[in-house]
Amino acid sequence: MVDYKIIHVPDPVLKEIAQPVDKIDDDVRAQMEGMLQAMYDAPGIGLAANQVGLLNRVLVMDLSNRQMNEEKAPICMANPEVVWQSEALSQMEEGCLSIPGQYAEVERPAEVKVKYWDKNGEEQLLEADGLLSHCVQHEIDHLNGVLFIDYLSSLKRNMMVKRVQKMKKQGVII
Ligand code: NI
Repeated sequence: MVDYKIIHVPDPVLKEIAQPVDKIDDDVRAQMEGMLQAMYDAPGIGLAANQVGLLNRVLVMDLSNRQMNEEKAPICMANPEVVWQSEALSQMEEGCLSIPGQYAEVERPAEVKVKYWDKNGEEQLLEADGLLSHCVQHEIDHLNGVLFIDYLSSLKRNMMVKRVQKMKKQGVII
């Protein structure tokens, strides 16, 4: 399996726009598997291609509670697209594997419907609310070069990036 390393801010690849996938082949499936592994190892609940230095529109998520030994429930998406979003908003604390140890409240549409291709290339529709809704919107943002800290004031954003840089310098994160 491909062994991916998670990239941290302020790496410019996190600000790039990922390009659509033409088809789901073994390479894309191997990428999805490798990304799931990197996400489980971290551990985290979502990971987008940019975060492992790839610029195609692929993301993975798994909201199962592994600490409670719940069975894994991976969701792999290529070319995800929000086709509907609620007017109602939801506020939830978010974090990001590319911005370790930093958390902030982010406001997003409470419910979304997301069209995507699964790992077999079949078109699927995900209807999400709650944490799954925040997670899928957060990961799609990554594919558009947007991070959750971009919703915060520049003061807060810069502070969080500086903290991550400091942790890197101290060897707390690699
Ligand atoms: Ni993230």
